[in-house]
Amino acid sequence: MKLFTDHLMLRTLELDDAEQIRELAGDYDIAKSTLNIPHPYPEGAAEEFIKRTHESFKEGNNYHFAIVRKLDDKLLGTIALGITPKHKRAELAYWIGKPYWGQGYMTEAGIGMMKFGFDDLDLNRICAHAFSTNLASSRVMQKIGMTYEGTLVQHVYKWEQYYDLVAYGIVKQTYQELVAR
Ligand SMILES: CC(C)(COP(=O)(O)OP(=O)(O)OC[C@H]1O[C@@H](n2cnc3c(N)ncnc32)[C@H](O)[C@@H]1OP(=O)(O)O)[C@@H](O)C(=O)NCCC(=O)NCCS
Repeated sequence: MKLFTDHLMLRTLELDDAEQIRELAGDYDIAKSTLNIPHPYPEGAAEEFIKRTHESFKEGNNYHFAIVRKLDDKLLGTIALGITPKHKRAELAYWIGKPYWGQGYMTEAGIGMMKFGFDDLDLNRICAHAFSTNLASSRVMQKIGMTYEGTLVQHVYKWEQYYDLVAYGIVKQTYQELVAR
């Protein structure tokens, strides 16, 4: 599957992406701000991850896309919508390689994924969480139209430390009002 935004293509991950994923997601600064990316990044983990994304895509419980720059076809990072069908709800998760930070790519990819989630998957709500220390991620959630809904105190335990998570979300009605503006 392929989705398009101004500068990006969001497409299903391919096994050929493994090397670039290992290189970008293997950076300590990506692992430290996310929950499920191991560090150091093990040999073969990218391939396993890509195969899992194909299975969850088929099952319809997690839509995981490669974020690819149209200009040069470079894979910049990944973005996913983890679905809870019963509640027509999804959680947005994402990372982008360090060389590509601060150029508006995740904001653009996030808006593309919200369009997919609300328009194509007919979701009612999309939420996202970040470590409270991750100000860039909070900013992305704000820029794509999500509202801060609260802080989950010491909600996760990672690398022998508890972390607070900030919770953001948006419902379909708010999204539709934003795009109609
Ligand atoms: C968070 C992340 C996805 C942002 O991606 P990006 O493509 O750089 O995001 P954008 O360029 O669209 O927007 C980043 C915004 O954060 C702001 N920002 C960056 N660092 C910041 C900081 N330390 N404090 C406050 N704002 C910050 C930028 O200025 C920009 O906002 P602006 O447009 O208002 O100036 C990226 O840094 C990343 O992948 N980090 C590691 C993994 C991660 O944190 N994933 C999310 C887990 S919840």
